[in-house]
This record gives sequence, C-alpha cells and structure tokens, in this order.
Amino acid sequence: MNVRREEGLKTIGVLTGGGDCPGLNAVIRAVVRAGFAYDFETLGIRNGWLGLIDGDVEPLTDFSVSGILPKGGTILGTSRTNPLANTADFQKIQHNIKKYGIHALVVIGGDGTLSAARDVAKQGIPLVGVPKTIDNDISGTDVTFGFDTAVSIVTEAIDRLHTTAESHHRIIVVEVMGRNVGWIALTAGIAGGADAILIPEVHFTMDEVCRKLRARYEAGKKFSIVVIAEGAHREDIGVPPVPEHDRDECGHEKFVGVGNMLGKELERCLGVETRVTTLGHVQRGGSPTAYDRVLATRFGVAAVELIHAGDFGKMVALQGNRITSITLESAVQQLKTVDPAFYELGMMVTGGKK
Ligand code: F6P
Repeated sequence: MNVRREEGLKTIGVLTGGGDCPGLNAVIRAVVRAGFAYDFETLGIRNGWLGLIDGDVEPLTDFSVSGILPKGGTILGTSRTNPLANTADFQKIQHNIKKYGIHALVVIGGDGTLSAARDVAKQGIPLVGVPKTIDNDISGTDVTFGFDTAVSIVTEAIDRLHTTAESHHRIIVVEVMGRNVGWIALTAGIAGGADAILIPEVHFTMDEVCRKLRARYEAGKKFSIVVIAEGAHREDIGVPPVPEHDRDECGHEKFVGVGNMLGKELERCLGVETRVTTLGHVQRGGSPTAYDRVLATRFGVAAVELIHAGDFGKMVALQGNRITSITLESAVQQLKTVDPAFYELGMMVTGGKK
C-alpha cells in the first residue's frame, strides 16, 4: 500500500504478536496518542511480524484508535510468525522498514515475540518491546497487562462454580491457562477460595490431592473446588516426553486436558461425584479491566518515550509502582515463575485445617 507521510514527522511502526490478550488495543491507542506529543506518526503493522514481511500496514490516526480502549483482542490482528525463520523473509522486513520510512518499532508481545524482537534488534533494527500476556510470565516486570483481566474472569467463574458445587455436593475441577507457570491458577485460586491449587512449577501426586480433599469431607465439608493450570504435571507418573505430532507449529505441547484426567481420578479415589470445567480462551477474550487499561496505557506511552530518547533494545516494565525499562535480553532470559513465598501463602489458606 502507498502510505503518505507528513513532512517532518518520524514514523513509528507498531505490531502485536503471539496470543492475543486484553489491553493490546489500549497500548496501540497510547502509542498513537503519545506519538502526537513527540511528533511521531504511527503505522499499524497487521498480523505481527507477518505484516512487516508482506508490507501489510495501515496508518493509525486519532480517528482509527478512537473507541478501541475497552475492546478486547487487537485491531491489528496477530500471528506467531517468526521474523528470522529464513533470510528471504528478514530481507523483506528490512526492505519494508526502509520503504515505509519506519524510524523504530514498538513490538507488543509475550515471550516468543519479545525473544524474536531481541534477535531482530541485534540485526540493527531500532525497536522497543512491550510485555503482554495473561500468563504474567515475563521477567523484569512485576506484572504484564492482561493478567489482571484473566484473573478476574477466572475468579468470577470459581465463584459461580462454588454455588453449584455446594448445592450438588460435588467436586468441581477448574482447568485454567498456564502452560509453564501457575500465576493465573494461584492468584485466582486464592481470590476464589479454592480448596486445592495445582500449578506447573510444583508437580503433584494424586495421593496428596486426595488426602487434602478427604480431610475436608471428614471435617463435614461436602464439596470442593480444585483449580489446576493446563501445564500442571503429576509427580507420580513423571513427565512423559512429548512426541512431535503432539506439538503445535511453535513446538509447544498440545494439551490433552489435565483437568479431565484429574476429575476422573478424584471421582475414583474419593467416590465423590466430580465435574470438570475448562475455561480456555474465555480467559483471553473481552474487555480489559480498568487496571489493565491503565497499565497498558502507561506501557504504550513509555515505549514512545524510549523511542524519543533513542533508547532501543529495551522493554518497558512495571517495578513497584514505577514504569521503567530493562534490556530485552534480560527480559527473555528466563520465564518468571510463581514466587515461592506467594505459593506457600496460597497453600496455607487452601483446603482448611490439616
Ligand atoms: O500464552 C498465553 C496462552 O494463553 C497460554 O496460557 C496458553 O497455553 C496459550 O496461550 C494458548 O494459545 P493458543 O490456543 O492461542 O495457541
């Protein structure tokens, strides 16, 4: 497409990559609006890195970002395209950056997209990263936007499941997202008063879980809520190797439903009627909470300020209540797993008197 640029203005390109997450549009809007303040114009790149390969771009105006703040998803679309998968694609990216006069990129993404951003930055392309993910697993930032929304959705679901579990004297297992980390399961489990919380960081045994729930029944409590992250593993059967055909295009394990497995086993060992609810992508869709809208807005403005300062190869981050920045290199070095002290606290208040 032919993009008309205003004389004297530098162009920022903005893209969203990886799984979507509530708050992406709030970042896009903030980048465009803060851009005005620093004399940048903004070019939206469609479908993550793919749009930069294909030259699929659209100018973002005040008009185009009007009303998007409360909207879930991303107006730009997203993909999991790897910009460095082959030389030809990367050359197209370099070509399009020149063609559209892009001074710097704002790359909004999770671990995969930000790792690619780090590598692209090393190839000399000026960019800054913005951490998004409902999983809250990016290092160097206290929180990622999207997490608060996901936790609110899961907490509301647990509250609803509580009343039906109690009425029917059932166990209800709630499977939530969290491939490698249990931030959503643990935080929403605590907020919703779950009776057991199982996360990827701490492998569980059926014995332990049954013991915990049996103690509740012996104390006269006739129902239980168990929250399990999709990536949780059983210690007693080990973690079997995942064959190629059980992996998605990014090499991630395709989950087969640990919640269902757990539900069946609990019913068998405790003899209590059990139901399973898998919340899935409901956790990622819809409008962001006020907290996520504000955090996303702060991140978007900070990203533009980094570009204005020429401080590239960085990721914006929240530390304490301050927005700061860290190198992309340190942000993607390792996933931010659940804080052990927070986990201990969760275990202390879960399941009642031992
Ligand atoms: O990274 C966010 C996340 O929501 C994970 O918790 C989940 O495992 C994954 O994305 C699922 O993504 P998709 O179904 O889009 O491949």
